[in-house]
Amino acid sequence: MLGEIIMKEQLLKMREDVISSVAACDSMRELEDIRIQYLGKKGAITAVLKQMGTLSAEERPVMGQYANQIRSEIEDALTQAGETLGAKESEARIEAEWLDVTLPGKKKPIGRKHPLTIVTDEIKEIFLGMGFSVAEGPEIETDYYNFEALNIPEGHPARDIQDTFYIDSKTALRSSTSPVQIRTMTKTKPPLRIIAPGRVYRSDAVDATHSPLFHQIEGLVVDKGVTMADLKGTLEIFAKRLWGENSKVRFRPHYFPFTEPSAEMDIMCFSCEGKGCRLCKNEGFIEVLGAGMVHPDVLSRCGVDPDIYSGFAFGVGLERITMRKYGISDIRYFYENDLRFLRQF
Ligand code: DAH
Repeated sequence: MLGEIIMKEQLLKMREDVISSVAACDSMRELEDIRIQYLGKKGAITAVLKQMGTLSAEERPVMGQYANQIRSEIEDALTQAGETLGAKESEARIEAEWLDVTLPGKKKPIGRKHPLTIVTDEIKEIFLGMGFSVAEGPEIETDYYNFEALNIPEGHPARDIQDTFYIDSKTALRSSTSPVQIRTMTKTKPPLRIIAPGRVYRSDAVDATHSPLFHQIEGLVVDKGVTMADLKGTLEIFAKRLWGENSKVRFRPHYFPFTEPSAEMDIMCFSCEGKGCRLCKNEGFIEVLGAGMVHPDVLSRCGVDPDIYSGFAFGVGLERITMRKYGISDIRYFYENDLRFLRQF
């Protein structure tokens, strides 16, 4: 009798304990701990039921039934709390993982091409399309490649110490990309079709249109039967691709030591269409490059037989073209790395 009362009280207390701990519980894990504590194999209910042996034969079934009822009440309480907590937890998770896809993204500043690179790439693309490949040469050149091989002997005005940065009497910073012609012809047998973009150096005083470092793109074609007509045709196509189908060019006779005959190519002023205006200094045309038929002496110096082969060459100043293309008024903007300038391209 006494045992029965004690057990009942234990069970009732247990139910109350479960109800209050479930109420205080705020996670599924804690809830599971409570379940194990009371309903588990080594749990509190089992412990109480173990005392059944102390009861009389009549009391046992009554107590068994009672214990089962408490057990199922406890189970119900746990299940119900589980549902509520589960819903709460998944709501919290959804809330935590919520992402506002309408927020503007974080912009990472992306670098861009320098205007000189943009125009170099454009010109490369045009000539690659005509079967040229890209050649390179060193910026520190020997006297031979920079001058002598190009028919510029000692004492020639183009060698003027004021124009060229000498490193020693036989070495200088190349003053044009023309030495790449010599290197290419010496190294590779014709037929040749190359362009050579790169930096060149001249000891000029800096102003809005002069810089001691600037860029040229050299071109060279050597093959059997190359004529001035090929030169004109190729450069005309180049001009039309770069400045548009409607652009017009003209060739003027000129002098370069390494070409014969030599010419300069002008493009008709975009602004006045040849009439003359401020942009073209009333000329109607703007000079864009130097060109000519490779001098026979230059060919033979490079091991190319001028009786079999002929060729044409040209040299374009990159800064001038780029300045005109974008309306840039001062060459110094190219080298100052001012982001306000660079971000415009
Ligand atoms: N080398 C010349 C200069 O720097 C440009 C030039 C003119 C290059 C005529 C050539 C050419 O290849 O044929 O002013």
